[in-house]
Amino acid sequence: MPRPTVLSNRAEALKPSLTLAISARAKALQQDGRDICSMSAGEPDFNTPDFIVEAAIKALRDGVTRYGPAAGDPELREAIADKLTQHNNIPSTATNVLVTNGGKQAIFNLFQVLLNPGDQVLIPAPYWLSYPEMARLAGAEPVVIPSSAEEGFSLDLDALEAAITPNTRLLVINSPGNPTGRVIERSEMLAVAEIVRRHPQLLVMSDEIYEYLLEEGETHHSFAALAPDLAERTMVVNGFAKGWAMTGWRLGYLVAPPEVIKAAAALQSQSTSNVCSFAQRGALAALRGSQDCVKSMAASFNSRRRLLTQGLKALDGLTLVPPRGAFYAFPKLPDHVSSSLAFCEAALEREGLALVPGAAFGDDRCVRLSCAVSHETIEDGLSRLEPLLASQL
Ligand SMILES: Cc1ncc(COP(=O)(O)O)c(C=O)c1O
Repeated sequence: MPRPTVLSNRAEALKPSLTLAISARAKALQQDGRDICSMSAGEPDFNTPDFIVEAAIKALRDGVTRYGPAAGDPELREAIADKLTQHNNIPSTATNVLVTNGGKQAIFNLFQVLLNPGDQVLIPAPYWLSYPEMARLAGAEPVVIPSSAEEGFSLDLDALEAAITPNTRLLVINSPGNPTGRVIERSEMLAVAEIVRRHPQLLVMSDEIYEYLLEEGETHHSFAALAPDLAERTMVVNGFAKGWAMTGWRLGYLVAPPEVIKAAAALQSQSTSNVCSFAQRGALAALRGSQDCVKSMAASFNSRRRLLTQGLKALDGLTLVPPRGAFYAFPKLPDHVSSSLAFCEAALEREGLALVPGAAFGDDRCVRLSCAVSHETIEDGLSRLEPLLASQL
């Protein structure tokens, strides 16, 4: 008898998302009539601004409904290159740009075209949970560089450099960061650049997807702008999901040297063909239109981030590195809590509070809370969190 479906080694090695179990359980409880307070959202709670929606509707009516170039709509690539040049101070042309199905596919494609089996990818923790899995899918080995809440989650530069071997191919940086909301300062970025200069085989992927979501007084630093001599070795990942509330549109981009873009476009041509053609017209409108919507959504996240930060600071037992960007907080749990997953399970079962366990982000001492919810939900969530911190789990 032939064996039934046998999965590839690749599929067998893939870790199922830790967060899925929690959100499935939260949904099941809600369906059973439980009152659930969810602070696990990873996306803006706004609708996409109208003028962007209108541009996509117009494109549909105008017949922008066919296949397009694999690398993206030429006008959109141009507009993204202009944005990088003017806004991020990274001189770019359309040949540097690949339009992708979200920032996620930009990272996936990049890892596929840069990494060989045996290559190592340096990933500072806490990290966005897809980086290690995507590195593994490309046959590479993720090498995690730990940090701690006590040290403000700052990059341990000595540990970073000590981890570099002849096989180290890529360093991942993410600022503002998910899950910590941490913004990498200019001096820290420059210190990382010094390390990269000392290791000519090392490339950098800078994930800047939360660039517009910054606390007042913070500045977003693009690695390639601070280290123009390393621009050829720096690949930028970004997208429209977080800044313009366009998560479901699946619109992101990769900015890299033309030969990398060519390879990633070839990969895309054999996998997804092109990003939805009329959705790209929406993205073009987003870049070309007024940025007031981005600013007002960012201001709203700032007010909610502050509410969450103040509330968490007032609770006994947590160590909080105040987030300065994105829409998350990543407090460290009291010492007696030994597992973030067990804590999140108890939070859900006992208090009806849905959080994301830090283990998903490479730090089992913490939990992630989102402030992309209403002020009332934040206050409700904080009041449900309090009794959990004192209790034995
Ligand atoms: C740090 C980070 N990078 C990339 C992404 C991918 O975003 P998208 O694929 O929705 O553009 C996310 C989404 O949550 C993220 O948090």
